[in-house]
Amino acid sequence: MSTRIAVFGTGYLGATHAACMAELGHEVLGVDVDAAKLEKLAAGEVPFYEPGLGEVLRRNIDRGRLKFTSSYEEAAEFADVFFLGVGTPQKKGEFAADMVYVDAVIETLAPLLTKPAVIFGKSTVPVGTAERLGKRARELAPVGDGVEVAWNPEFLREGFAVQDTLHPDRLVLGVDRGRHGRAESAAREVYADLLDEGIPFLVTDLATSELVKASANAFLATKISFINAISEVCEAAGADVTVLADAIGYDVRIGRRFLNAGIGFGGGCLPKDIRAFMARAGELGADQALTFLREVDNINMRRRTRMVELAREACGSLLGARVAVLGAAFKPDSDDVRDSPALNVAGQIQLQGAAVNVYDPKAMDNSRALFPTLTYSANALEACEGADVVLVLTEWPEFLKLQPSDLDAVVRKKVIVDGRNCLSPDEWRGAGWNYRGLGRP
Ligand SMILES: NC(=O)c1ccc[n+]([C@@H]2O[C@H](COP(=O)([O-])OP(=O)(O)OC[C@H]3O[C@@H](n4cnc5c(N)ncnc54)[C@H](O)[C@@H]3O)[C@@H](O)[C@H]2O)c1
Repeated sequence: MSTRIAVFGTGYLGATHAACMAELGHEVLGVDVDAAKLEKLAAGEVPFYEPGLGEVLRRNIDRGRLKFTSSYEEAAEFADVFFLGVGTPQKKGEFAADMVYVDAVIETLAPLLTKPAVIFGKSTVPVGTAERLGKRARELAPVGDGVEVAWNPEFLREGFAVQDTLHPDRLVLGVDRGRHGRAESAAREVYADLLDEGIPFLVTDLATSELVKASANAFLATKISFINAISEVCEAAGADVTVLADAIGYDVRIGRRFLNAGIGFGGGCLPKDIRAFMARAGELGADQALTFLREVDNINMRRRTRMVELAREACGSLLGARVAVLGAAFKPDSDDVRDSPALNVAGQIQLQGAAVNVYDPKAMDNSRALFPTLTYSANALEACEGADVVLVLTEWPEFLKLQPSDLDAVVRKKVIVDGRNCLSPDEWRGAGWNYRGLGRP
C-alpha cells in the first residue's frame, strides 16, 4: 500500500530516506530550507557523493513518486506520515547537541496539521527529545491529540546508505506507550516490504529508541578507540597492532570489524554523538556512567596528533617541507569532511609551516569550503609532486592500488606514512621506500 510521506531535511540522511521510501512505492515529498539543495535534487542531482543514490533518485522522480519543496504548507497538506531528518550538530563550545533545527521543524509543521498525523523522528537526538516534541506538537497542532511523535532512529552508513535504508540490519521504533496511537501500524505500512523480508523490527518506548542509537554509536567509537589505545602500546613495545587485531578478531566474542587502528574516527556522527550522549547523561544525573567516553574521545584525538608527529619525524622539520595528503573525507566512499581526521591532520601540518597538497577522489569541493588555505591537487600524482613525505589519511580504493613505482619519479623523498594501515609495508619497503604505519614497527 502506498503512503503519502514528507521528509524534513534532505541532507545525507533525509535525501536518502526520501528517495528510498519512493523506491518502496510510496509518494514522497522532500522538504528543506536550502533552496540550492532542493533545486539540485528536483533536477535528479544528488548534492553530495553517495554511491547508487543518483539512480534511485532519478528513477523515482521520473516515475512521479518523488518531489521536493520548501513549502511546509504543501507538505502538511500532502502527507499523512512525516519523517524528521534534520541535523543535530554539536553546540558551539559545548558537548550538547544543538536542537534548533529539530525544534524549528515542529514549531513550523505542527501549527499546519489539521488532520491526524504521525511524525517519525530519524535524527539522532538526546534521550527525552521525542516526548518533549510530542507534547509541543499536540499543543501547537489544530488537530491536537491527533498528532503523534514516534522515534525511528537511523543507522545508515555513508557509502552504503541506499543498501542500509532498503535492507537495514534492523528497524527500531519508539512509541509513546501512554497513547494508543497509530505509529506502529503506520510504520508497518511504510516498511511493509522490509518486514516481509524478515528484517527484525523492535518496537519499544521513546526513551529506549533514542538510547539505542546513542549506545550503538558509543559502542562503535569505543571499539575504534580501544584498538587505537592498544596501538599506542604497540608503538611503545615495538609490536604490530594489525596482526594483534587479526588475532583477537578471530574470537567471535570480539570480532574483527571496527578494529582497524589508524588516525581514528570522525564525520558528522560519532564525535558529536558521543559528546551529546555524555552531556545528556550529565543532565540526567548519570554522568559517571559515561565518563569513559571522554577517554574514548581523547584517545581518538591523540591519534591525529600522533600522525602529525610522524609526519614531522619523517621530514625532520615541518617548516618548509612539502607534504602530500591523500584523502580528505572522513572515510572512503563519502565526500563528507565534517570533523574529518584527514583534513584535521592536513590543517595542523600546514599551521606548523609545511606546504600541504591534498587530493581526495570525491571530497575536494567540501574540503576547499572548510579549509580554503590548503592546496588542492587534481590527482594523487600531482599531490605527491616534490613531496618530502606522502600521508595516506583516507583508505580510498584508488590509494590502495597505488604502486611505489607510480610515485618513485614524482616525490622528493621516498617516505610514506600510512594513517589507515591500509597499504602493504613489505611492498613499499621492498621498493626502497621508508614506510611507517600507526601501531606497527
Ligand atoms: N549522515 C549519516 O550518516 C547519519 C546516519 C544516521 C543518523 N544521522 C543523523 O541524521 C541527522 C541528519 O544528519 P545529516 O548527515 O543528514 O545532516 P545534513 O546536514 O546533511 O542534513 C540536514 C538537512 O536539514 C536541513 N534543514 C535544516 N533546518 C531545516 C528545517 N527547519 N526544515 C527543513 N530542513 C532543514 C538542512 O538544510 C540540511 O539539508 C543528524 O541527527 C544525524 O546525526 C546521520
